[in-house]
Amino acid sequence: MIRFGGDYNPEQWPPHVWREDVALMRSAGISLVTVGVFSWSRLQPAEDRFDFAWLDEVLDLLHGNGIGVCLATPTASPPPWFTRAHPGAMPVTADGVRLTHGSRDTYCVNAPEYQEASNRIANELAARYGQHPALRLWHVHNEYGTTCYCDHCAPAFRRWLSHTYGEIGLVNEVWCTDFWSQRYGCFDEVLPPRATQYLSNPAHVLDYRRFSSDAMLTHYLAQRDILRPYGVPVTTNFVLGGWVPVDHARWAREVDVVAVDDYPESVEGHLAARAFVADLARGWAGGQPWMLMEHAPAAVRQADGVTRALPAGEARAAAETYVAGGASAVMYFQWRAGRGGAEQWHPAMVPLLSELAPIGRSLATRTPVRVESTRALIYDEQSMWAWQSPHLPTPFVDYTAITRRWHHAMGPPVDVLPIGAPLEGYSLVVAPALHMVPAALHKRLRSYVADGGTLVLTFGSGLTDEHSRTTPGAFDDLCGIRVARHRPGECGVRGVRDGRSGECGVCGVRDGRSGECGVRGVRDDRSGECGVGGVRDDHPSERGVGAKQHRPGEYGVWLDEIDPQDATVVLHSSEGRPLVTEHRYGRGLVRYVAADLPDPTPWARS
Ligand code: GAL
Repeated sequence: MIRFGGDYNPEQWPPHVWREDVALMRSAGISLVTVGVFSWSRLQPAEDRFDFAWLDEVLDLLHGNGIGVCLATPTASPPPWFTRAHPGAMPVTADGVRLTHGSRDTYCVNAPEYQEASNRIANELAARYGQHPALRLWHVHNEYGTTCYCDHCAPAFRRWLSHTYGEIGLVNEVWCTDFWSQRYGCFDEVLPPRATQYLSNPAHVLDYRRFSSDAMLTHYLAQRDILRPYGVPVTTNFVLGGWVPVDHARWAREVDVVAVDDYPESVEGHLAARAFVADLARGWAGGQPWMLMEHAPAAVRQADGVTRALPAGEARAAAETYVAGGASAVMYFQWRAGRGGAEQWHPAMVPLLSELAPIGRSLATRTPVRVESTRALIYDEQSMWAWQSPHLPTPFVDYTAITRRWHHAMGPPVDVLPIGAPLEGYSLVVAPALHMVPAALHKRLRSYVADGGTLVLTFGSGLTDEHSRTTPGAFDDLCGIRVARHRPGECGVRGVRDGRSGECGVCGVRDGRSGECGVRGVRDDRSGECGVGGVRDDHPSERGVGAKQHRPGEYGVWLDEIDPQDATVVLHSSEGRPLVTEHRYGRGLVRYVAADLPDPTPWARS
């Protein structure tokens, strides 16, 4: 069976609605619902008072109707009493603002009081429901991703650095601290990368993301280890996007089943975006089945804030796309919309059951697809982080969008792999714009080609090592070329990033004010949708899809001026510049694509 269902928040409705819900669920083929994600204030109304009666009733009702439960720990949204008792456990932004209760995800994972309260509620849930017959899966927390810069984080970051590097001298070396007089005398001098006068050190920022990812992982592992003894798989739902400081490739090793949430940001191309996420999730899962924990029912909430309905039939096409990528569950956010609250207008399943129920009934009779591919695409979230460094040759490289374009050009089936995955057995490996390449990966790519593989590298590959230190010419020998110069941004068309104007021609946006965008404008510091997609100030709603524009034009966002050495030029630009080269290396072949080609299809095949 491929499971079908979604987030179910019965605490937002009176019990008579629960009975209507389960009757509807049965007729719609719902087999799994995620319960309790944001229920902490109902489960533990005061520090020393718990109330499980309502959840007992809900779980029994679901079980009585043959519906399985994915039971969440509610730690993504601590209740108001917690905030009041422990104001020091609230997160602090890089600007030094301590956030207060009022939304969700407002906590510091390094605050001992928050860690303790999280483990306590997880223990209570485990003891009460660990043996419940409806229980199929534990869902720890929700979409880890809150970054904090507080005084709990500062010493934890120093401990992380000390554990990672051993001595401060090595931190100085890998962070290149002689630039701008940043050399540290001891770990105690190091701070989180809080707001500072001008640009931050990119290696410092990168390590802070790694540290934040590890700190959240520690929080997850504490709960996982509380829940695991009950013999039911434990997971957490991964959220994708440029703002997320989570290294999912590393986390994937710690979950019993990989679960992802997917929210494409435009209707145009949403199926291609979903196909990429499906292949990515399967890559994190090491080829095993994975779960689609959330997506929006028959709609897309665009980057500009407009919720657009999918054309008829495309909700099914969306579900089939995930299934074709190996999903073992297709779930939605959410079963029934709340009457109030911040997401009261978010689409829900209940009003759309005539369209969605046939999907559920069909999935109930099927088993997860086993995807076999001989072609792989490398996608590295840490390279995505590196592409967000300040003061790059251009701010307009959208790593995820470029990788997705290559993925689409390759056509199915493709395995999307993290950088540590084995490459043996693949006839073609494509690594677009892989900014950050550690020495070990350089070595593995060379062995892969020497042993007969075909590797496609592009502009922007191997620019730095894992500490953001530049590595000029790192792939020259492998590609049989010399990269003489990077020429990014000579595209003269339009670009928008972080609310700042790009080379926008007619379609500019500056300082939060709308540009001359014709019908489509900008609001509140958000860039407009200027043709093929907008950007939104690195805000959490930028989920890594459909972000910065790809500018039309021969070279896109980047051109490498290259001198072919032993390589053969297989494509020239209209100006006669070498654009694509091929080079024999050992028993294999390396293709280098020197520009951000609008359509890389001919070069994405072996
Ligand atoms: C997810 C989140 C859900 C809900 C949904 C709305 O990221 O896990 O709780 O907020 O987005 O699209």
